[in-house]
Amino acid sequence: MSAPLGIIGGSGLGRLAALSDVRSQDVVTRWGAPSGPLLHGRLGGRAVVFLARHGPDHALAPHRIDYRANVQALVDAGVRAAVAVATVGGIAAGLDAGALVVPHQLIDYTWGRVASFGDAPGEAVHHVDFTHPYTPTLRDGLIAAACATGVAVVPQGVYACMQGPRLETAAEIDRIERDGATVVGMTGMPEAVLAREAGLAYATLAVVVNAAAGRGDSAHGIAVAELQAGLERALETAVRVLVRFCEDFDGGA
Ligand code: HPA
Repeated sequence: MSAPLGIIGGSGLGRLAALSDVRSQDVVTRWGAPSGPLLHGRLGGRAVVFLARHGPDHALAPHRIDYRANVQALVDAGVRAAVAVATVGGIAAGLDAGALVVPHQLIDYTWGRVASFGDAPGEAVHHVDFTHPYTPTLRDGLIAAACATGVAVVPQGVYACMQGPRLETAAEIDRIERDGATVVGMTGMPEAVLAREAGLAYATLAVVVNAAAGRGDSAHGIAVAELQAGLERALETAVRVLVRFCEDFDGGA
């Protein structure tokens, strides 16, 4: 039997309604408790372990998440490959609310987060190769799943991880755009590097829920109260892609 696929749900995806045969499991890892229970179940005929990154009630801010415990919990559950769903702001022209992006690169602007399993007394220091932060086979699978579902997807992008929880200033978006960023979120790091350290294949399905600060519809500010409706619609599409991904994914990394 192949290993279960890990799915990390971001904002708005605290549960996965499409998951069947669900069994909830509270776990504690060597680093402490993850954000919430692991939900074991089936999606698209595949065994899946789902974890809500912000906790089931979305109570954890991005900088409060114990990314180490989250990644470890998936590893302990036998997961070898994980897809992370993350809401983002769109920086590049055309990345409006509802767009799906499969980033190929990231830039980390976060600070003060535990970003290595080696960051603990007595632990070995890790220097992992992180040239390509996302696993190509998983990225290809997500892009293929979107195409097969008839869902438009942007097949590459540079994910900028900001500290949050506040949204950015327009000048910050200008700056990270000059750096090469095309989408901006708050949770992609250190999740991605911890997955790499743990030997997990990992890719992100980024869901654009707003134009980034100072861009497009957000030229004069981000209508935070209006994000929810767009989020629900976009996530419905993202879940369709995930289901198809599960149907087709061969379990390899
Ligand atoms: N900035 C940072 N994180 C986000 C955004 C944004 O505009 N939208 C959704 N997550």
